[in-house]
Amino acid sequence: MFENIPLFPPQASTSAPLVDGLYFFLVGMSLFGSLLIAGLLLAFAYRYRRRSAADRTNPVSEAMALELTWTAIPLGLFLFIFFWGASVYFHLSRPPDDAMEIRVVGKRWMWKLQHLNGNREINELHVPAGRPVRLTMTSEDVIHSFFIPAFRIKMDVLPGRYSTAWFEATEPGRYHLFCAEYCGTKHSSMIGSVIVMEPSEFQAWLTGEQRGISASAAGQKLFLGLGCVTCHNAASKARGPNLEGLFGKSVRLEGGSTVLFDETYLRESIVEPNARRAEGFEIQMPTFKGLVSEEGILDLIEYIKSLGEEGEEAGRETEAGGEAGKGKEAAPRS
Ligand code: CUA
Repeated sequence: MFENIPLFPPQASTSAPLVDGLYFFLVGMSLFGSLLIAGLLLAFAYRYRRRSAADRTNPVSEAMALELTWTAIPLGLFLFIFFWGASVYFHLSRPPDDAMEIRVVGKRWMWKLQHLNGNREINELHVPAGRPVRLTMTSEDVIHSFFIPAFRIKMDVLPGRYSTAWFEATEPGRYHLFCAEYCGTKHSSMIGSVIVMEPSEFQAWLTGEQRGISASAAGQKLFLGLGCVTCHNAASKARGPNLEGLFGKSVRLEGGSTVLFDETYLRESIVEPNARRAEGFEIQMPTFKGLVSEEGILDLIEYIKSLGEEGEEAGRETEAGGEAGKGKEAAPRS
């Protein structure tokens, strides 16, 4: 619809029409308001110009009905915009449950994109059309912003935490990917492409391109290699919480509060383990800050997610799914 209008990107995601609808309504309303005010200004300037014979006696000092009208109409209008905007915002910020997961790591000056099966891309992202895609994003250095104009999504990518965004592409093709937050000398070349493919083509690409091991298998390697398993295992006297089946649940902390065991809490527990400690464990966990890359942390999280969800999820995304459960049996290697 917009291909022929320069400066306006095509609508290539399910969110695009929603965002555009609101955008054009706001533009239209602003235009109407501006023209109305400019028109009245000119009309009054002409009518009450110095030499006109307009009636200037008996000026109006109070007009309740008029004031109520010009208060109530904009109030209604703005509330309408508020609720409309809120509904679009909720839509944009809640990825569907069945979304495909992609991990994004921003770095001066490139985008690193990873699929759960282990495919890694730089400045290029292949996705299928007609399937929701959820992005879990972080940065290795400064603030970047992940911007795909054709999908109408833009989300800041911050060091030290995760932000998420999602889209469902509708049209196969190649779309621009930009960094939309000034991040240094080569900010303007921190660009890439999103390649939307037919689902069957995408499946072929995904398996055909596969190099290396899946994210959760890579995570398992780290889990063993860094010695996480020494303390985090199912033994009754384990020094750390058994992580199996914990993802998505709430965890009791020292001091009685609880926290959701999600990506954010997991990441924090790896780099800053004693910030919010689980209840009932005396030994302090050492920090792994600087010892694992952001990608490594994402892999670890993927592995921990797969723990205890035997079968479907773990088995589908990785051949290591069957082995994923083994971590719990490994004996402490102190
Ligand atoms: Cu990254 Cu601008």
